[in-house]
Order: sequence, then structure tokens, then C-alpha cells
Amino acid sequence: MKPLFPTIICTDPKALAEAVADKFLYLAFNAVPGPLTVALSGGSTPKRLYELLAQPPYFEKIPWERVEFFFGDERSVPPEHVDSNYRMAREALLDKVPSKVHRMAAESGRADEYEAVVRARVPGGSAGIPRFDLVLLGIGTDGHTASLFPGTDALQETKKLVVMNDVPKLKTARMTFTYPLLNAAKKVWVLASGEDKQKVVQDALYNPDSAHPIVGVRPQPGEVLWWLDGDSGTLQA
Ligand code: 6PG
Repeated sequence: MKPLFPTIICTDPKALAEAVADKFLYLAFNAVPGPLTVALSGGSTPKRLYELLAQPPYFEKIPWERVEFFFGDERSVPPEHVDSNYRMAREALLDKVPSKVHRMAAESGRADEYEAVVRARVPGGSAGIPRFDLVLLGIGTDGHTASLFPGTDALQETKKLVVMNDVPKLKTARMTFTYPLLNAAKKVWVLASGEDKQKVVQDALYNPDSAHPIVGVRPQPGEVLWWLDGDSGTLQA
């Protein structure tokens, strides 16, 4: 059976990070003139990628001054907080490269302000919605992506591009991109690693009735690619 989305399976988490880093290098070299707009995600899988990108040979080869970083979601904490996606990305990569970075200040609750930044910096397509060159996403074991959690209001959003989303099971609100913004992207790379992701990955890719939030990420027109490792991605025959 064919998976719902195109999938690349790497042997282990290290190989996964290397494969994505290679593709990122290629993208940075081959993108059209102008900034390469990239939205980062939080989580442990992308962290490994960010750390790798900050090391040779990627560090020297990527034209970092062309890359402009954003965040696809953020926890409602200040930038120095241990839970901050910004802090994780800064420590792993952003402090070491000269790229422009737009932190998502979720603790302010001002999703409208972040949407305005995105609209000002990221060129829009014919529908007037900004089109990121690349959005990196992870998957939670509950099927969430960015901070689009199952059963939450942000899943229904059709107009706003960035919202504060109440997440009752975490007793908090997070700032997140919505489907209209995610699905306007030119490329979305979904990264999932580890055995604990296997169940949700299998369900999302092979069960046509699954309703995990990640399954709603289908950029049009655009490309989605799922990057898995041997643990998260044992495929059905
Ligand atoms: C976050 C994320 C979130 C993450 C998944 C997977 O802020 O936590 O952006 O959507 O990507 O929860 O995280 P792991 O890679 O750590 O499993």
C-alpha cells in the first residue's frame, strides 16, 4: 500500500539528520535569488538537525546570510526558558550563524503581531498568503504538529495565519501557524524519529480514516515530504 505522503526512511536518527541537512544545503544553494524563508519547529528530532547544521561541512557551505528563520510554533514562555523552542534553536544553531531570526513571542499572546511580521517578510502567492520556502515540522505521539493539537480550536481556523491555541491537556496556550499558512508553503518537511512515533506515523500514512492534525498538512501547490528513521517508519507491505 502506498503511503499517503512521500516518505524517506533513514537507518537511524543520525542518518536522518544528515539526509535532511544535505537536502537543506541543496535548497540553500538552488533557491531563487532573495532570502530563503524557513520556519523552524521545536522538538528533539529537529534539534539534532540544527546541531548538525552548525557543524562542518554544513556550517561553512550553507550561505547563511541568505536564510531568514521564523518559528512555526512556540510555547508561552520567555526566550530564556528551558521550554522555549527559540532557546533550543538558538543554542543549537541560531547563535552560530549570521541569519536573520524572527522569534515568535508566544508569551505576549500577540499572534496578530507575528502574522504581520510573516506577511511583511514572506512573499505571498496568488491567494495573497505568504509562501515559506520551507517549513520544518515534527509529529507528537498524539498526532499533533506545530501546536495544532487534536480537538483544539486552531484546527478550524480558516482565515488567521497565526493564532494562540488553548491546549487544555497541557493546561496552557501556545502560538502556532494554522493550516492556511502551513498549506501555502512551497515545501514542508515532516521529521519523525524513534519507536514511540511508529504507531502515529503508521496510522497517519496508511489509515485513510485517521484524523491526526498532521494529516491536514497538505501544501497546495507545494510539496510535502516525510523523513523517518528505521524506528518511526517501519512500513506496511
Ligand atoms: C513543539 C513542537 C512540536 C514537536 C512535536 C514533536 O513545540 O514541541 O513544535 O510540534 O515538533 O511535539 O516533538 P519531538 O520531536 O520532540 O517528538
